[in-house]
Amino acid sequence: MRSKTLLGLSALAVVAAACAPNASQSALEPAGPYAQEPHNLFVFVFWVAAAIFVLVEGMLLVFAIRYRHRKDRTRIPAQVHGNTRLEVAWTILPTLILAGVAVPTVATIWDLAAEPEGDVLEVNVLGHQWWWEFDYPEQGIVTANELHIPTGRPVFLTLCAAGFGYGEEDPSAPGPPAPSDCQPGPPEGLPPAGIGASVVHSFWVPELAGTQDVVPGQTNHLTIQADEPGVYEGQCKEFCGLSHAYMKHVVVAHTPEDFDRWVADQQADAAVPEPGTDAVAGAAIFVNQCTQCHAIEGLQDENGEPVAGNNGGPNLTHLMSRECFRGCTLPLNDGNLRAWLEDPREIEAGSFMPDYGLSPEELDQMVAFLNTLE
Ligand code: CUA
Repeated sequence: MRSKTLLGLSALAVVAAACAPNASQSALEPAGPYAQEPHNLFVFVFWVAAAIFVLVEGMLLVFAIRYRHRKDRTRIPAQVHGNTRLEVAWTILPTLILAGVAVPTVATIWDLAAEPEGDVLEVNVLGHQWWWEFDYPEQGIVTANELHIPTGRPVFLTLCAAGFGYGEEDPSAPGPPAPSDCQPGPPEGLPPAGIGASVVHSFWVPELAGTQDVVPGQTNHLTIQADEPGVYEGQCKEFCGLSHAYMKHVVVAHTPEDFDRWVADQQADAAVPEPGTDAVAGAAIFVNQCTQCHAIEGLQDENGEPVAGNNGGPNLTHLMSRECFRGCTLPLNDGNLRAWLEDPREIEAGSFMPDYGLSPEELDQMVAFLNTLE
């Protein structure tokens, strides 16, 4: 019996450890108006529920003690069964309380679902297995794993599940396609261009907003906003396959000036590697092996012709401006990049990127090339 209790307690300790406060992923610490509003509602409903709990449980205790069985008790207490007044009272009271909770709840839902007005930044968010792609249609930027936003400005997200229907624009055109809306399936006459099956994901940055599901064939929206510059961690919240647990991302909020600088940096083409360096050899490998999936703006082949990347994999134009990769769960450094290129599936279960069997020398060249992508 005792060992069972101990076992139960240690299991509880393990479960409770998972709830350890994580300052950067807590919905209880809202960092913007679209997280503050649901938080306010939560606090209101919490206190209403807490008051009812204390009242009901308190009365239960009082009655249980006051009218408990005693040896010398001879008569039973007055019976209230069928008392119309009481029946009406305890039907109407909960109805009023629930209605009182419903009004602010419905108002908040409508409020959060409304498309923001005024100076809004629009970003298309594509859920891939297992990383997020962020397209800025107005700025012509495509990035992965890191969503950069300006502070104090609503960011209206259009969420789609990538896979089918992605890359529907002319694949020979330079530059990545920037879908303005989600596609219900592969465009007519074209095979599914996307890499990775189209599955359900859920976008969640606890400090900035509630969650929004990303459903194949459906266009969903979510508005986020950050009050202060900082890094806010996000997590895919819907099981989406083998590496779902590794599908994280970050939202990096900048001051408006810093954001403009980031946009200008991202809009620039990738640097062309210096002739005669390892990076040039790496670029040649990239042109041969990687452009089926990965795009790099400004990439040229050995004749100086622009190379169009097809997409489906993360856009790598400014890879080195990012802190992380592999669903933002690995710090971006030479060691991790090399290990990834050596065998992606060793690092990410079910990865859609195959092992290209690169030699140690080729791995060095690839890492050298990727390092030029600032
Ligand atoms: Cu994407 Cu879980």
